[in-house]
Amino acid sequence: MQLYQDYHLASANTLSLPSVAKQLVCLDHVDQLPELQPLMEAAARRWVLGGGSNMVLANYIDALVIKVQTKGIRILSETTDQVLIEAQAGENWHGFVQYCLAQGWLGLENLALIPGTVGAAPVQNIGAYGIEVDQLIEQVQVWDVAQAKMCVFNSAACQFSYRDSVFKRSLPGRYLITAVQFRLQKKSTWQPVMRYPDLSSHPDLQGEPTALAIFNAVVQIRQRKLPAPAVLPNAGSFFKNPIVSARQYEVLLQNYPTLVAYPYGEDQYKLAAGWLIEQAGWKGKQLGPVGMHKNQALVLVNYGGATSTEVRALVEMLKRDIKQKFDVLLEQEPIAVQ
Ligand code: EPU
Repeated sequence: MQLYQDYHLASANTLSLPSVAKQLVCLDHVDQLPELQPLMEAAARRWVLGGGSNMVLANYIDALVIKVQTKGIRILSETTDQVLIEAQAGENWHGFVQYCLAQGWLGLENLALIPGTVGAAPVQNIGAYGIEVDQLIEQVQVWDVAQAKMCVFNSAACQFSYRDSVFKRSLPGRYLITAVQFRLQKKSTWQPVMRYPDLSSHPDLQGEPTALAIFNAVVQIRQRKLPAPAVLPNAGSFFKNPIVSARQYEVLLQNYPTLVAYPYGEDQYKLAAGWLIEQAGWKGKQLGPVGMHKNQALVLVNYGGATSTEVRALVEMLKRDIKQKFDVLLEQEPIAVQ
């Protein structure tokens, strides 16, 4: 296992921000964890890096960065209706979704084309087109650096909620997710999830769509709406869709009759942050080398040469504007790593 000093991370984050990690080590196999443990204990600060698709990296990261690139997908148990799969944390998410679909293990199709790794999926509880990944996760296996041992978090222990989990809130670098177990369906029990308007209205998904048809439609919709990080660097949705009280929703609706919002839980609403940002005039707007995307106002893009300082400047200005116009506080979705 090689320990790198002053490692450049520009190509290891999808926003393409220039960033140097004080130290970096790559984890290729879980067997290396006992060897890695003393290095992790010695480091004052640690960060775990997967695909770098949900992070805003500072210019210098005064920490040990652990890049997880463990690979492997296996069946743990199987019946005629269901299958329990274990995937190693370093597997590419979209590749994993494709692999499962090809094996006839269904349920992940709505989550196609999300950048990042399997190990990062539970951290922010990735979600799209009517499914959040916690609905499919049986358990998450982690190396707990504080105890120097493997631990298992069942779904309840993961404390999943909208774009959140116990892993996102814990001390950075305490838990190193090593593998995730998913309970998937076979054709006999699989049910399509078609709630999302983009899917229910899709011409290829009328009648009784197959999982493959949903997968293809999701890929097509994402390609149309979201910029590919390889072409225009970005970190997906840059803000969470804010959750407000029913009272605040009513007030907003009176002032803005076209407000886009969805009921959330008993007495709350989730507002489409993209709508708020667009209404505030930020869609397609550029500030220096960064801007909000022209097709999806929720996506912050780097037009080239941006650093985390310019990202922060735009974020602060935009948040202030949204607070002033709608009395809504936007929360940044990607993790700020410094
Ligand atoms: N909208 C606008 N203007 C915009 C963008 C959106 O008015 O520029 C309005 C539209 O009315 C649209 C609604 O907002 O119907 C919702 O937009 P969209 O379907 O694009 O979804 P979103 O709420 O913006 C969320 C997730 C995405 C996920 C999609 C599809 C969050 C923070 N984002 O976006 O996740 O792909 O739904 O399920 O929850 C990500 O997390 O990185 C991500 C891309």
